[in-house]
Amino acid sequence: MKKTILLAMTLCVMGASAQKFENLAMTPPMGWNSWNKFACDVSEQLIMETADAMAASGMKAAGYEYVVIDDCWQVGRDSMGFIVADPVRFPSGIKALADYVHSKGLKFGIYSCAGTETCGGRPGSRGHEFQDAYMYAQWGVDYLKFDWCKTDGQNAVESYRLMSQKLKEAGRPIVFSLCEWGDNKPWNWGKEIGHLWRTTGDIYDCFDCEKNHGTWSNWGVMRILDMQDGLREYAGPGHWNDPDMLEVGNGGLSLNEARAHFSMWCMLAAPLIAGNDLRNMNAETLSILTNADAIAINQDPIGVQGLKVDAVDGLETWVKPLSNGEWAICFLNRSAEPKTISYDWKTKVVKDEFAKRELNGASQQYNIKDVWTKKSLGNTQKTLKATIPSHDVLMVKLSK
Ligand code: GLA
Repeated sequence: MKKTILLAMTLCVMGASAQKFENLAMTPPMGWNSWNKFACDVSEQLIMETADAMAASGMKAAGYEYVVIDDCWQVGRDSMGFIVADPVRFPSGIKALADYVHSKGLKFGIYSCAGTETCGGRPGSRGHEFQDAYMYAQWGVDYLKFDWCKTDGQNAVESYRLMSQKLKEAGRPIVFSLCEWGDNKPWNWGKEIGHLWRTTGDIYDCFDCEKNHGTWSNWGVMRILDMQDGLREYAGPGHWNDPDMLEVGNGGLSLNEARAHFSMWCMLAAPLIAGNDLRNMNAETLSILTNADAIAINQDPIGVQGLKVDAVDGLETWVKPLSNGEWAICFLNRSAEPKTISYDWKTKVVKDEFAKRELNGASQQYNIKDVWTKKSLGNTQKTLKATIPSHDVLMVKLSK
């Protein structure tokens, strides 16, 4: 059996080309990942129940698709070097789990690392790239998150290119998520290799804090947002900046803050990978994660990342060009006090050089819809007046 596998692996290598799989992740990937909430406490039961909850809760209907097991599903390698899943936590094996996720009309994702070990100290893919890619293809994996721990002396571009090639050679279209934390500026080289790349270190479940671990830090939502400056031109259909997974519903953010977090990830055209317990969501969490208007802004097919056009005294103004000449605007109040806006479209003409679009609400009249209250706020002929609570947003869509 193993000999047959090795022969098949050799044949695959001979027939393969080097580029990443094209036409995947043409809009930012949407799904769920185990890490933010469960860390190493993963099991097939958790993944199956999460797939059930994604399908039953309305998340799937809202567009969430990938169910991704992060670190700690793997415990070793067998005598031939094949990766071995934890037999206690995954007694039915990964193939059966992938089949179950697929049976729910969802896609299945997994995690490994470019180094010798994962960040959780499990076996990494270093030296086993094709063997792992081959197993993922056999199991029916649709998405691979590939981390960057224990990579001393490795070249990031070559390490990620190698795994990209091996995935291609294994023959199953797999979204390739580069989790290199932005250390080697993956936005400069990731487009040919993968479909999304982390731009920062790990997110932390707070609005605006740093969790310092000595040699590295986790970052609150606003800190991560600030690290996206200057990156928008690198993103587009099939290749996205990834500011890390969502913390909505994990308890560290107030309702306002969770809404602001989700809104900004939509404005950034960021992957929307929920990181909470989908089996136990309250109604507020679910309504944030499934806001159809916000998701449509994130998933807009032209795939242009939002642009910060103004930042004064804790109040930021972001715009995102959408298809059909439409726009999203998000006013983000980062301060501890409510902020009043008086936004006169005549004096606020936005020229987006990158997207080659101009927003002029005075010469072109748009209808304004509040994405969160769903109410009409009139049109752009009139000054937009509103009060935005602390740590919250006013997010609107402009339609013709
Ligand atoms: C790194 C990644 C996280 C997570 C952990 C798992 O820290 O950046 O997203 O995958 O490893 O150990």
